[in-house]
Amino acid sequence: YRADKLLEDHIDALLNGGTVVPTTAEEHRKVQRQADAYSPEELGNILVEYAITAPATGNQLTAPFAFNLMFGTKIGPSGTLTGYLRPETAQGLFVNFRRLLDYNNGRVPFAAAQIGLGFRNEIAPKNGLLRVREFTMAEIEHFVNPAEKEHPKFASVRNIVMKLFDRDAQLGTGRIAELTVGAAVSAGTIANETLAYFMARTQLFMVKIGMDLTKLRFRQHLATEMAHYAADCWDLEIFTAYGWIECVGHADRACYDLAVHSAATGVQTEAFKQLDTPVEMESVTLLPDRKTIGLTFKKEQKAVYAALDVLQSDDSKLRAFEATLSTGEAVLHDGETAWKLTPDMLAFKRSKKLVQVVKFIPSVIEPSFGIGRILHALLEHSFHQRDSKDEQRVVMRFAPPVAPIKCGIYNLQTNVKFMPFVAQIEKLLTDAGITNKADTSGQSVGKRYARADELGTPFGVTVDFDTLIDHSVTLRERDTMRQVRVKISALPSLLQELCGFSDHPKPWASITSRFQRVCCVEGPIRHQVTSRCIFSRPAELI
Ligand code: ATP
Ligand code: GLY
Repeated sequence: YRADKLLEDHIDALLNGGTVVPTTAEEHRKVQRQADAYSPEELGNILVEYAITAPATGNQLTAPFAFNLMFGTKIGPSGTLTGYLRPETAQGLFVNFRRLLDYNNGRVPFAAAQIGLGFRNEIAPKNGLLRVREFTMAEIEHFVNPAEKEHPKFASVRNIVMKLFDRDAQLGTGRIAELTVGAAVSAGTIANETLAYFMARTQLFMVKIGMDLTKLRFRQHLATEMAHYAADCWDLEIFTAYGWIECVGHADRACYDLAVHSAATGVQTEAFKQLDTPVEMESVTLLPDRKTIGLTFKKEQKAVYAALDVLQSDDSKLRAFEATLSTGEAVLHDGETAWKLTPDMLAFKRSKKLVQVVKFIPSVIEPSFGIGRILHALLEHSFHQRDSKDEQRVVMRFAPPVAPIKCGIYNLQTNVKFMPFVAQIEKLLTDAGITNKADTSGQSVGKRYARADELGTPFGVTVDFDTLIDHSVTLRERDTMRQVRVKISALPSLLQELCGFSDHPKPWASITSRFQRVCCVEGPIRHQVTSRCIFSRPAELI
């Protein structure tokens, strides 16, 4: 079992039991929110405190221990070389960083994106696509100068309101703040503009694909929960039947990845910035006392020097480390091991020089999308029952940009005269890139609309007797069930606008005012009634 998840589930069950007094409930929630931030020892003590046993059997649990989530494998015929399947697509981008930097003339910012499989040796895969061992990820690595984390397009997202659950609130009030992106950066809640810009873009994307905005929030990682490489980290969490699920991680990974890649392989990962006028810069160089380090760390000294090389490459971290060390000791770590260093092991040399070109290892801001989790949440958010009393009237309310089939094509009734029009519309829509599906089976058109609703098809075009006279059809929208009358020739561009193919997608509401409304009443599916109340002749058809 995953110890942190056992604790979370146990507290959920405890609180849902309804016997916990509110103040205690908040204490339990606090413990729950920190579940994946505890050390194995702390977690072990808490499991004992809560008297948690194995869920199915009630058996005693062993003490928690750390476990490598990376999938190990043996490479080559001799099997002597150990390799790991990538746990994120990001690693491929860091390995290719040097080429990407050359391609961008040595300058940042620039970004690279990748979609592919990630592999993790999950302890307990479960809940469909939510926790699997092999999953599709989409990641953007946006490389920036660590001293310039402003974003040129920040103004375009500044006023977007986001729900933010920062780390203080998680450990304190438990309250979620609604803040504009601009206010969150000014207040220092989100570390920098670039990180906030990508969080806002993620929210815009979620809304565009049809996610329910009221079920989205950003949760900041607790300092103890953050990956060793991260400087700040916010998860977009989406509310589902399984509770709040992390679907997109947003991390400021600072220069960790590029620095360790460079230290391990010797590949230069520095970018440069040309200054207009030379400036005097102070640099700090680490001077290790080799004798003391050798005597203290013996066999581990090589790893300590590699970690010091990484530290040397990040000026702000180096200065922070120096300040901590001056208090008596500081912890140096390489992501796997930590070492206590004392002031007698290191000296710091300061020197000044005039520079025209500043070299630095770029920081990277990374939004990381788990496609399976997003898809799962989207299916849940799109599920709708037309009428709570009519379970058969299920509608998948897929937003037009992501609906697999954009438009259904129907004949009002079986009549050979309608078929050439159905074929003509199929071709027109296919040529315009609008996925479509003709349904000319003999059932009532109401039943066929209901079938398309279940598939989530947002629009439906129906050929009827007026089509034979003026080459017009009805265009039905799935969610409102409203219809307008439109010339066949106008369908491709109109549907492209409605499906968001252009830069300025049009909502259905803007269409209804431009076209003649057709008034129809669709009855319960059991009765298969679609009655036509008014069928006015359009004054003007576009
Ligand atoms: P969790 O705490 O739920 O295990 P994580 O913090 O390890 O997730 P990240 O390392 O941030 O997740 O991975 C990036 C994204 O990949 C997540 O936001 C999520 O959408 C997806 N993801 C991670 N692990 C899995 C998994 N086992 N199955 C499906 N998707 C996953
Ligand atoms: N558009 C055809 C119908 O509503 O029946």
